[in-house]
Amino acid sequence: MAVLSYPISGSTLKLTRVYLIILYMHTCETQRYSEKHERDPVSAIKPDHPASLRKHFSSVRRLTGTLASRLSVEDQSVQSMPDASPTKWHLAHTTWFFETFILKPFVPGYEVVDEQYDYLFNSYYNSIGEQYPRARRGMITRPGMDHILEYRHAVDDAMGDFLNASPDGLPEEISALIALGLNHEQQHQELLLTDIKHGLSVNPAFPAFEPRGSVSGWGGSELEMIGYHGGLVHVGYRGEGFCFDNELPEHKCYVYPFNLASRLVSNGEYQQFVADGGYRQPGHWLSDGWSWVQAADVSMPLYWHEIDGQLLEFTLHGLKPLKPAVPVCHVNYFEACAYASWAGKRLPTEQEWEIASRSVQLEGDFMNFDQLHPRAAKARGGLQQMFGDVWQWTQSAYNGYPGFKVAEGAVGEYNGKFMCGQQVLRGASCVTSPGHARHSYRNFFPPGAQWQFSGIRLAQDAK
Ligand SMILES: [Fe+2]
Repeated sequence: MAVLSYPISGSTLKLTRVYLIILYMHTCETQRYSEKHERDPVSAIKPDHPASLRKHFSSVRRLTGTLASRLSVEDQSVQSMPDASPTKWHLAHTTWFFETFILKPFVPGYEVVDEQYDYLFNSYYNSIGEQYPRARRGMITRPGMDHILEYRHAVDDAMGDFLNASPDGLPEEISALIALGLNHEQQHQELLLTDIKHGLSVNPAFPAFEPRGSVSGWGGSELEMIGYHGGLVHVGYRGEGFCFDNELPEHKCYVYPFNLASRLVSNGEYQQFVADGGYRQPGHWLSDGWSWVQAADVSMPLYWHEIDGQLLEFTLHGLKPLKPAVPVCHVNYFEACAYASWAGKRLPTEQEWEIASRSVQLEGDFMNFDQLHPRAAKARGGLQQMFGDVWQWTQSAYNGYPGFKVAEGAVGEYNGKFMCGQQVLRGASCVTSPGHARHSYRNFFPPGAQWQFSGIRLAQDAK
């Protein structure tokens, strides 16, 4: 085993300051976060406790392996579109992250598993080096799956040695980078599922990722518009736990009084928009959105299929009848805006969403193999479905908060350089890893993206 030292550069110190270091993750892959949350609260996990870091490292890495193990080697190699990476690539890239940002800089004498992996599995870090084109990741048939799994095991072993060799804890800067790597891997767990869903969807047999799961359509409630006063409010992450740099700094902003829908827009409600000719009425669409509808000849959400007069929806459990009470998902920003216009409402700003979300707990329908699909709202009043089920488009462009600074070094490329041409989504989805959600979490995608589990919550100005 290599002798350890901690040669932290000045730039590393600066960039890691923005990442706080408590992890709050799961111990059981299929457990619903709402159940876990009660007996394993976020605050109970000590960020600088080596045993805690080891536990989270092994549980996060194990869950990625569990997800991949439900797929054939052929499934894991497929790339169905430029945005969707093969499962095999996700397995290798998340491993490359730990090798590149932890093992290479902090373990003297560490020998990389394969020097070619820097080119093949670097996603977009220009300061690390050139990258293999994203749209061609499905062409990487070599290394094969056996070598990718060996790569994961080798890096897991080296990381295990590194963590075990520091019984008194790691320097905060290194713990923060490991926390970043684990949160990064959780993001890729969700991407693995959204990407393979698209891959399976283009197969005319509509195979299921998880055949044993089902889609429950029970429940539903009347949609109410709940009033909020607004005013001068704080937005952004406040706390001692982990957050991404784009959630910082916490700052003040003014929010006018507004109303927010008590639940997500359902399939049944969106079906009315479709039936009313919503995709044929340019007056409801943004200019770019209308161009997209025309060019792509769209008439309903991605994964909806009308077969023999019946509306069906492709899910990770296969092709299922469309359930009216289940939240509509896989709609892009253009579709969300058009629906809101048709309904006489608008999308919330991310500030409105965040301050409203503080009235509810971090509970919801997160990744759960029994139902990898959003669930109907509960038959009760009040604000619900803020976390889990589907990410919620906001009308806010993805930009840096006042005072935001891109960190120096390669990890500074994580979020800041994407602050152009994308919209913020809030909440989380039914394929978000348990524990990977925050009131201040800012997801972001281009307005045309449909393949994420993205849906709609309505808002309006208060009268
Ligand atoms: Fe990544």
